[in-house]
Amino acid sequence: MNTITTVAHPNIALIKYWGKRDEQLHLPTRSSISLTLEAFVTETTITPSSDEYDHIIVNNSQAPDRIASPITTFINYCKNKYALSTPITIQTSNNFPTAAGLASSASGFAALAAALNVFFSLRLSPQELSMLARQGSGSATRSVTGGFSMWHKGVLPDGSDSYAEQLFPQTHWPELRVIIAITQQDIKIQSSRHAMQQTIETSPDYGAWIATSEDRIASMRNALATKDLPLLGELAEQDSLDMHQTMHTSKPPINFFVPATYRVMRTIKEIRTKQAIPCYFTIDAGPNVKILCLDEHVPTLLKTLNDIEGVLYCITSTIGPAVHTKDKEIHSV
Ligand code: DP6
Repeated sequence: MNTITTVAHPNIALIKYWGKRDEQLHLPTRSSISLTLEAFVTETTITPSSDEYDHIIVNNSQAPDRIASPITTFINYCKNKYALSTPITIQTSNNFPTAAGLASSASGFAALAAALNVFFSLRLSPQELSMLARQGSGSATRSVTGGFSMWHKGVLPDGSDSYAEQLFPQTHWPELRVIIAITQQDIKIQSSRHAMQQTIETSPDYGAWIATSEDRIASMRNALATKDLPLLGELAEQDSLDMHQTMHTSKPPINFFVPATYRVMRTIKEIRTKQAIPCYFTIDAGPNVKILCLDEHVPTLLKTLNDIEGVLYCITSTIGPAVHTKDKEIHSV
């Protein structure tokens, strides 16, 4: 068994996943659609272990328990499912803040599932690989397929129809950009896993949000197919705000925002209405804001965003590819 390195990129959901209908199998309550961030990268290397134990190294050091324990659970799940016994060393690193609401679990589990697939010659198809990554983290399904992807919620109790599909490749919309406005780099206050379950169990607004899902998925597919930024942006912004509303009304309330998050949201709306620049925000389980826009407007937006109190820095990204091995082309895993 040779050393293998895989590369995956986090993804940002335009139509969000927030809640599971089956917690064991990680089956979502709604389908979701994402775009992949080229600028953010996770690299994962698997080598045979030098002793009889598995080792997990994250960002060049022994991972803290909160990060290592879901990885260990996932490795044990894979070893059990595929009857694997060889002890391994996993080294994984991100070029962006880990566990800060920047979807490091999406790219992390996509890269890890792909690395296990190659290292142990499991020969999984992209669809099977996305289902395997799902057991690590739901959003990882969409980082397996990359570009613009949809995670089908599926209806079967065994989860065999709950996988991601690439709707459009990374080259589909070359002018589209995402600006990530970083307002905080620390590990987030609460894990998505726990927060989404609390939301399902206690928010009176959750059902109404779920009822919008099919219509929003259809409209988002249309917005992507026709490259309609105002349609895509309005939908993404609304879906994100609605998701956060379900958190704000859960008991006790969950709020991932910091003051700068609100300032960025306000500014984006102002630029859109006063300067007629098409720009829209979406926010995940963290305080950082992702802005959807076109390349021609990036310089103007950056100038304004960088001046907002509490914005630490901004990163601009194009759309990224599916998970792949480091030395080979896309989808070679
Ligand atoms: C807000 O995929 O991290 O980013 O499946 O429990 O690991 P688990 O949750 P995770 O949740 C992501 C939530 C989100 C929205 C999204 O990516 O669709």
